Amino acid sequence: MIFLGIETSCDDTAAAIVHDGRDVLSSVASSQDAFHAKYGGVVPEIAGRRHVALLSAVIEDACERAQTPLDSLDGIAVTRGPGLIGSLVVGVAGAKALAFALRKPLYGVNHLHGHVFAAFLEREEAPPYPFLVLLVSGGHSQLVAVESATCLRILGRTRDDAAGEAYDKTARLLGLPYPGGPALDRLAQRGDSNKYAFPRHRAGGDSLDLSFSGLKTSVRYFLESEAGRTARHEDVAASFQAAVVDVLMARVRAAFERNGYRAAVLSGGVAANSALQAAFRAWGAQSAVPVFIPPPKYCTDNAAMIAAAAHYQRDATLSDPLALTADPNLPFLF
Ligand code: KG4
Ligand code: ZN
Repeated sequence: MIFLGIETSCDDTAAAIVHDGRDVLSSVASSQDAFHAKYGGVVPEIAGRRHVALLSAVIEDACERAQTPLDSLDGIAVTRGPGLIGSLVVGVAGAKALAFALRKPLYGVNHLHGHVFAAFLEREEAPPYPFLVLLVSGGHSQLVAVESATCLRILGRTRDDAAGEAYDKTARLLGLPYPGGPALDRLAQRGDSNKYAFPRHRAGGDSLDLSFSGLKTSVRYFLESEAGRTARHEDVAASFQAAVVDVLMARVRAAFERNGYRAAVLSGGVAANSALQAAFRAWGAQSAVPVFIPPPKYCTDNAAMIAAAAHYQRDATLSDPLALTADPNLPFLF
């Protein structure tokens, strides 16, 4: 089965050709970072317009690179939500038009399920069910229990900022350009992570929820203080990163203590973070839990993960090309 995946939920215009939900024949993503950087975040109106300008070329490029003409596809998969409505509708309209004209099956995929199935790409062995996913991106932070391809349950989620959002906002406080996550990661590698003790959020009771706004605020107050004004930014970045990683790993351990999963997956843009990856792998080795972390290009938003999700969730996502709609608040459960 060869699927074309289309992803336009936020600011990246992406298309990919994937064989059997695993082998990536091509994955093309046109980043819009340069268009949004001067505003310090994604501007929805600009994102939608750029998708309109780029989508056809990105799909053509993906087909050419994979040497797969459109008429040889077995299906077309598209992100239908959650995300920015003005961005989603561009991909959904494009996918509907292609599916209708080519008379191919159309699959409407949940973006977050895409991040889960990114772990199946380019791997000899897929994560065995049931597995736990720590999904940390610019828009979402959650722990997900995956019993089967279509039985996914959120165990805990952020109560305020997503992990990536906390990275981007803290990076901005440190004067780093948007999107600041990767730059903060690099800066932190030269710093002392024990230098400052920033707060680690603990949810009450048996909740597995997360929160990052207190941490971000604490960094801001520190930077405005007497000591903060002369602090080495490397040390502040490393200490902030250590707090984020501690909070995330505490939730992963707590989820595993409650339930035996057969594997653990780290996914979403923040999964590219070097300290988080190191902590996740070290915990996996110590606890004898097989750990799956997609390569960085499949951790951040991409279309290959959307094609993969559609492959594994074929029956549940099959849609009518005339009726499929984008849903900015698409619920996580089917
Ligand atoms: O998954 P993604 O591409 O988009 C969303 O669906 O949100 O995630 C983007 C987020 C941004 O906040 C970015 O700063 C963060 O992932 N990110 C990182 C790193 N690489 C990307 N955060 C920390 N360290 C990194 N190396
Ligand atoms: Zn995403």
